[in-house]
Amino acid sequence: MKGILQYGNCPVRVYADLHQLSAAVAQHCVQYIQSTLAQQDECHIALAGGSTPESLYTLLATTDYMQQISWDKVHIYFGDERYVSHDSPQSNFCMARTALLDKVPLLQGNIHPIPTDAGDAESDAQAYAQLLTRNLPYDNNVPVFDLILLGMGEDGHTASLFPGTPILTEKQKPVAAVYVDTLASWRISLTYPVLNAARCLLFLVSGKNKAAQIRAIFTSEHSAHVPIQQIQPAHACYWYLDADAAAELET
Ligand code: 6PG
Repeated sequence: MKGILQYGNCPVRVYADLHQLSAAVAQHCVQYIQSTLAQQDECHIALAGGSTPESLYTLLATTDYMQQISWDKVHIYFGDERYVSHDSPQSNFCMARTALLDKVPLLQGNIHPIPTDAGDAESDAQAYAQLLTRNLPYDNNVPVFDLILLGMGEDGHTASLFPGTPILTEKQKPVAAVYVDTLASWRISLTYPVLNAARCLLFLVSGKNKAAQIRAIFTSEHSAHVPIQQIQPAHACYWYLDADAAAELET
């Protein structure tokens, strides 16, 4: 590990490159899943989309890590999804299925992709919210994940909580559809109440293109006010950065 910082109540861990970051997060996931399953029968995990977590998912599917997880007790969900077919290369589910879900002995009924086949993002978002209601424990009327993995875009978005979009003000629904003008496309995403309530949040940020935003966030340039900064974790949270993403921080 190259260095450790603190952001709010969240430890920040910096690694030389994406591979070392992924190995550290994989180890964290294994330990966290094991400790969770020592206390309860199931572990409910929401995966991040985008490109950063793909190497983590690939690692978790390798023997060293795969054998340490009781996959039959793990439920997999998604933090957000692009409103495309699950067979599209744009799909977060497609990426995770290829890198991880098809390679580990999860129970098929425990894999919960965000549906994108109703032809209407709002309907699919409601269906996913109902699934969370059925599957997850609740705290203060909010479904509680055991673990949520999140990435960050250059603009400081996370999941599909993009700057200037109405989903940022959603405080009731656990899942919402959002049209992202800058992408000219619909997304479905977990909302702030669900992200805040998670028992553990892991933020994974890699790449030089994220360095300026990381500096803006971590040097408490609260004028930044980007979506990822608005998350208020009720429980554990950790930032995992590679050296490129942390390049503008003093570690
Ligand atoms: C998505 C993700 C999104 C992602 C960031 C970072 O659907 O794209 O959920 O929030 O985590 O955009 O993406 P990269 O990891 O590709 O930089």
